Amino acid sequence: MTPERIVFSSTLSPEAESYLREQFPSSHELRVRTARGVTDDDLAWATGICVNNIPADKIRAQDNIGWLHVPAVGIDPFLSLRETRPDLHITRHGPFNARAVAEHGLGLLLALRREIPAMVEAKPRRIWARDPIFKRHPPLVAGSQIHVLGFGPVAQTVITLLAAVGAEITVYRRSAEGNHPGVKHFRALHDLATHIGGADALISVLPGHPEIKHRINATVLDSMQPSSVLVNLGRSDVLDHEALVAALTADRLAGAALDVFDQEPLPPESPLWSAPNLIISPHVGGQFRGNLHRGIDIFLGEFEQWLAQRG
Ligand SMILES: NC(=O)c1ccc[n+]([C@@H]2O[C@H](COP(=O)([O-])OP(=O)(O)OC[C@H]3O[C@@H](n4cnc5c(N)ncnc54)[C@H](OP(=O)(O)O)[C@@H]3O)[C@@H](O)[C@H]2O)c1
Repeated sequence: MTPERIVFSSTLSPEAESYLREQFPSSHELRVRTARGVTDDDLAWATGICVNNIPADKIRAQDNIGWLHVPAVGIDPFLSLRETRPDLHITRHGPFNARAVAEHGLGLLLALRREIPAMVEAKPRRIWARDPIFKRHPPLVAGSQIHVLGFGPVAQTVITLLAAVGAEITVYRRSAEGNHPGVKHFRALHDLATHIGGADALISVLPGHPEIKHRINATVLDSMQPSSVLVNLGRSDVLDHEALVAALTADRLAGAALDVFDQEPLPPESPLWSAPNLIISPHVGGQFRGNLHRGIDIFLGEFEQWLAQRG
């Protein structure tokens, strides 16, 4: 069998890199690169590549690459390759970290509701920060109306957790249909502005897609109750950040938490840094203990399947 030449690109701890090197079949060749360390020479050398952040065009141009593994939930940056390189075998980590994202989302929601950021901020100043919670008089999550955008694997895990704490859940997707024991209503996404006024919290778990860019816009935010909060766990371009800053600044929304941004890391000049009642979570929702080993195991499993297909 001709050895395959695989480039694995992701920023790994030394321990995770040792694990990868130990588990990788010795009859094939492996180059390990950092998340941004893939060179043109690597691309010209590889028959397979695990990568998340190089332009799709660069892979399209390399006929030598027969397998692309994307170490992420979705293959969003490489969708165009499905049509332009139909011969390319594309795999992905998939929603292996859905539970971590869901727990992170629940944590952000509870932090907003229980005014945790105000307590953290007050502590170094030795302030007994009762006012924020006394002023807001937050609703319990149990029994509150939570509107979830999206019904993919991550959203469904979010719904399961929210239902477990007693929230009443409305889901928005392309059409107003679906089945889930934790969901009270299914709504069509294009009706969002009509129904969002009934929400105590809006949680977006939508992917990035031109059709739904800025679906959460000034009209939607203006239709929300001033006591409601917003959490974005999916992709950033679903939300119009300028409109969010305006709503938070005018106190038309009680708070928000974002785990995803148009530009990451969020640049220091972004107006989001100074928006009131906004938690900036630096895209860490999917992280959990053991995730790197789990990701490597998925990558190796996909490698084995690709080898079997190649015969
Ligand atoms: N924060 C983090 O660290 C983190 C970690 C993991 C994942 N994520 C992100 O979470 C998002 C959701 O992931 P997922 O795997 O659960 O779901 P997904 O498969 O990415 O998305 C499924 C949902 O998106 C809707 N959708 C897709 N294209 C659409 C379009 N053109 N117009 C309207 N709706 C559309 C689908 O609608 P239908 O229900 O009608 O089919 C479905 O509800 C992804 O963007 C993923 O990258 C973030």
